[in-house]
Amino acid sequence: MHIMESAPGARTVIDGREVDYFCGCGYFGLQGHPELIEAACRAAGQYGLGSATSRRGYGTNPVLLEVETQAARFFGASEALYYASGYLGNAILLQGLADDYDVIFVDRESHYSVLDGAAVARKPVVPFAHRDAGDLKTQLQNHLKPGQTPLMLSDGVFAVSGQIAPIPDYLHVLESYESFLVCVDDAHGAGVIGPKGQGCFEYHGLSDARLFSSGTLSKAFGGYGGIIATDAALKTRLMTNAPITFASSAPPTPAAAASARALEILHHHPELRTRLWENVAHAKSGLRALGFTLEDTPVPILCLSCREVCLERLPGQLLSRGIVVSRWYAGGGSYSGVPREGAIRIAIFATHSPAQIDRLIDEIGALV
Ligand SMILES: Cc1ncc(COP(=O)(O)O)c(C=O)c1O
Repeated sequence: MHIMESAPGARTVIDGREVDYFCGCGYFGLQGHPELIEAACRAAGQYGLGSATSRRGYGTNPVLLEVETQAARFFGASEALYYASGYLGNAILLQGLADDYDVIFVDRESHYSVLDGAAVARKPVVPFAHRDAGDLKTQLQNHLKPGQTPLMLSDGVFAVSGQIAPIPDYLHVLESYESFLVCVDDAHGAGVIGPKGQGCFEYHGLSDARLFSSGTLSKAFGGYGGIIATDAALKTRLMTNAPITFASSAPPTPAAAASARALEILHHHPELRTRLWENVAHAKSGLRALGFTLEDTPVPILCLSCREVCLERLPGQLLSRGIVVSRWYAGGGSYSGVPREGAIRIAIFATHSPAQIDRLIDEIGALV
């Protein structure tokens, strides 16, 4: 296990050594932002570390409400629900919406949070092949009884491959049913893709009352906790039907204060997103020139498939040159959604300098 000894950022201290850091999910480098840290310290001084009770009792303080106000504005919704962890968002949505669907159809390579969420929903769960609208259609035909409502469940952006779920293709299939729901875990899309950073639905230009997503403030936003942009009626349902929301402690107050500040910063500074996308385009074009195949999307997760070239020793060799990337193995005990042949995951941040990205590309070029 490695020990991170600074805030994660473009330069990070790991195991006592400062390195160029291309891992994790701090896509805007906000985890070490002075204004987030100041907001967290101020909130801790005024309200303490946490409310020690759930939101529905006395556990809601002004800082938590501020997160929800800022999140509603950021995501263009009338309300937002803030809860303890992004991981829980799928369970909250599926429990909250339980009266509105009968069978869950889930991308089989979805994140653990998605699969666990489906498991606690207490509804039939039918997996379909990864990002395969054709197989979704087949599974719907095979498993849905007349009059039943399907719910399609998937990651919005896959954590290791960086692939975006083909939601328009799924909708094309689902449109032939009288009613349906779509739920997406947008932990890696929220804040990052779409013109306003609102995530995968905005990226695809979709807006529809049957589309639902959950996000996290723990990755791109640099704070902590899960977020669902919603309206008042659904928020009430989620807070009534999903026990996680009323039977677990509210998120820690300093983390909430930092999250609220991050939402404000990313709302007022769209140029941070532009810089991130420019860095992603820069890194992708350099790696394509080395022969890697990378989809043309703004997702800051670059996945080098071990099929294209033997990348087994690459992370260690890069580390010896002061550059850190992640290596993922496929199969049990690894991580969800890892390509069959394994992968190198490179995370690009808005705060990486062009020189850092050039050095990454040059070093990879020299090693492969
Ligand atoms: C797709 C996806 N959903 C949810 C989570 C968990 O989010 P959080 O860390 O906010 O609980 C992760 C974290 O790695 C993730 O990749």
